[in-house]
Amino acid sequence: MEQHFSGEEKVGAIVAAFPGASHLFKEVNIDFCCGGDLSLRQAIRQRKLDENEILRRLNESYAEMKSRDSRRETDWRAAPIADLIDHIVQHHHVYLRKELPLLSEFVTKILRVHGSGHPELSLLHKAFHQMKIELDQHLIVEEEVLFPLLRQYAEEPTAEKREQAVKGLRELETDHHTVGNYLKEMRAVTDGYALPPGACRTYTLAFQKLIELESDLFQHIHLENNVLFPRIEDQPVPPMGG
Ligand SMILES: [Fe+2]
Ligand SMILES: [Fe+2]
Repeated sequence: MEQHFSGEEKVGAIVAAFPGASHLFKEVNIDFCCGGDLSLRQAIRQRKLDENEILRRLNESYAEMKSRDSRRETDWRAAPIADLIDHIVQHHHVYLRKELPLLSEFVTKILRVHGSGHPELSLLHKAFHQMKIELDQHLIVEEEVLFPLLRQYAEEPTAEKREQAVKGLRELETDHHTVGNYLKEMRAVTDGYALPPGACRTYTLAFQKLIELESDLFQHIHLENNVLFPRIEDQPVPPMGG
């Protein structure tokens, strides 16, 4: 079989080129949003995984995707920047604005009902709400400040706008890192969202929704860190004053 990926490629670049790789990476806990800058080989060593096995599975699923010719999925590295921003807002930001308040209710409810027997629920409640505040503010900065700037820059690139944009996206990357750490903390305190025997419906639903939230945030942060931001930073700098 042709080896498309050798392991030297960066994890974020692999998912940008082949979005289907995210399933495998999630399964084996390779962080492709905040750890996207590591090469796959480094990530595999960090997680003490079997390199041959991971490369084999990655290349197999890539070959499968190729043979199905299911490349109808948009290549966000090539689509207009404005379309990519629309996709992020309509898909991922709308999702967060709908789900975060609901999850806040669930996480609070299970703490009230089951907290005495499950002290980890109080840690979960705290980490979730700290992350929620971070995200609420982060979405506002993206939608009100950075994304309008990126749209303007895409339409009419000048060195000044680029400088401003790069400064802004550095700060957002730091936020992404913070959010990634909260996600790790929530997963750690709940022992990988393990449900206690006989967990009630709300408990079960809350954990299911938290897993879904984690997965959506991975994809969301990946699109910003590894696709959108490099498209601004890697563009040739226009002449000053232009
Ligand atoms: Fe975002
Ligand atoms: Fe973001």
